[in-house]
Amino acid sequence: MITSAELRQKYLNFFESKGHTIVPSASLIPDNDPTVLFTTAGMHPLVPFLLGQKHPSGTRLANAQKCIRTQDIDEVGDNRHETFFEMLGNWSLGDYFKTEAIQWSWEFLTSKQWLGLDPRKLAVTVFGGDSRVPALPKDSEAAQIWREQGVAEHKITYLEGGVFESKKNWWGPAGQTGPCGPDTEMFYWMGETEFPPEESNPGNDEDNWLEIWNDVFMQYNKIGDGQYQPLAQKNVDTGMGLERTMMVFNGFADVFQIDTFWPLIQKIQNISGREYIENKDVTRSMRIVADHVRTATMIMGDDRGVSPSNADQGYIVRRLIRRAVRHGRLLGIKENFCSQIAEGVIEIFKDIYPELVRNHEFIITELAHEERNFRNTIEQGLKEFEKLVNGFRLAFEKTGQQIKEISGKHAFKLYDTYGFPLEMTQELALENGLAVDVNGFDLAFKTHQETSRAGAEQKFVGGLADHSEMSTKYHTATHLLHATLLKILGPHATQKGSNITQERMRFDFAYPQKLTPEQITLAEELVNAAITRDYPVTWQEMSFEEARTKGAIGLFEDKYQARIKVYTVGDPEAPATADPATTTYSREVCGGPHVEHTGTMGKFKIIKEEAVSAGVRRIKAILE
Ligand code: ALA
Repeated sequence: MITSAELRQKYLNFFESKGHTIVPSASLIPDNDPTVLFTTAGMHPLVPFLLGQKHPSGTRLANAQKCIRTQDIDEVGDNRHETFFEMLGNWSLGDYFKTEAIQWSWEFLTSKQWLGLDPRKLAVTVFGGDSRVPALPKDSEAAQIWREQGVAEHKITYLEGGVFESKKNWWGPAGQTGPCGPDTEMFYWMGETEFPPEESNPGNDEDNWLEIWNDVFMQYNKIGDGQYQPLAQKNVDTGMGLERTMMVFNGFADVFQIDTFWPLIQKIQNISGREYIENKDVTRSMRIVADHVRTATMIMGDDRGVSPSNADQGYIVRRLIRRAVRHGRLLGIKENFCSQIAEGVIEIFKDIYPELVRNHEFIITELAHEERNFRNTIEQGLKEFEKLVNGFRLAFEKTGQQIKEISGKHAFKLYDTYGFPLEMTQELALENGLAVDVNGFDLAFKTHQETSRAGAEQKFVGGLADHSEMSTKYHTATHLLHATLLKILGPHATQKGSNITQERMRFDFAYPQKLTPEQITLAEELVNAAITRDYPVTWQEMSFEEARTKGAIGLFEDKYQARIKVYTVGDPEAPATADPATTTYSREVCGGPHVEHTGTMGKFKIIKEEAVSAGVRRIKAILE
């Protein structure tokens, strides 16, 4: 047996022994990156450094990163998928490449000193080329390095043709251009027999092999459709799934039996009086409840945590909680119970992610509020749904015509009146052999709502973002506004979220009441004065302590206190005052990028100030 804490530590110790600096997990909410809602992989916060910027902690990094992949949400309930997971990763930023990456992966997996997994139960896949892109040959170099580790020929499978849709043995870029490259994936045998038959491999027998680790070799820059150039700086990006590795190491049949899940399943068993292994529906619902409350807790408990709402990250939190409540109901749970599960999540992760303790009250308050609200309408909503389905049945009996689809109007009513996320209506529909008219729903939604959740869906692509000029200006405007609000409203008005598009910026912050018109005007005036003063914007690397002493904002108490990057608007040596009459306006911990001079930003204008949830306000602003 191994615990998650031991596995994390082993991994980090191993890579430390290979010259890596251990860096903290970044926030789950990306730092002003409009292309994704959540951090989806350990490499995500490292994008600027994979593109060539110098990382303050050097060229070899490793960490345990909190990740969210909501595209897997419908798979949750099987034995291996989850929406929140921890990724153990090691990176080379233009330092070592394929040989060391593969050697070390193999050593960590199989050496008795480390995990000591049986090599007979391991197999690997390698990029096999893609006939549509002749410029990308198969990765025979990686295959050869595997052979040199003693991996048998039949355990090395080339997978072909995965550059576009399936991204098989290929990683990035999410957009049209950017760094990308082949990867090699490691799998563990999960079949019934003790050892895999010789003809079985992860390419032809997917269900019996579980992917546990992926080594990506970023060696190309995509410059256009089908056009790839070798990169000057070749990087390694690896990701090992902590939960899955725990599962195989401990010999569990599913991921929910590991120590960061099982106490939650036990709580659900106690509350519902049901048994995890009772039948497959109970197992599935328990897994969904455990997974979704765990993920919602991690999102709300992040230092940039967001509360349930109808847009972007908040919509995902809402969807997770509401789906958990419905599956709790399927288990026969009638009273509010999610907070009890969330307490379990905080207990499990409090040492490795202490932000959960800092944000304990926020998590529990928001969760309880959301659950109570939804519980008030879910029974009525389900009745409404049943009425609808019964109506279809009656119509069929009378006319012989079968209705196979729930109209957009009905789906919207379930959403608007009873709080059913569209995806929940779709799930209910599927259970009844029906579809939902999603386009009709979108139409009904758009006519009723100013912001569309479709925007949220579009942002799910992971990977490398490009930083356009306008986004950069909004990014600097975000720093100016943050410093300004802390000055006008007091030190508790800290950032709770941020999102930037080409057209506007959005900034969420902690504050209990509506801002007065005077406060809004003052905030605009101060930010515009800071722009007009044309401050230089520069950054320095420093230790956590130094950043704290210098009064940098946006500083989280991370477990590992690596060197961090701090942006100053104004004189980097003087204290930041958020007063445009002085030499220095703001100092904030941040990965960048920013404008070089504030004078280029244009005129700052607040277009909306509104509540996001109890205690959190939102400002939308533009640069004209
Ligand atoms: N970025 C790679 C992945 O997430 C390692 O699989």
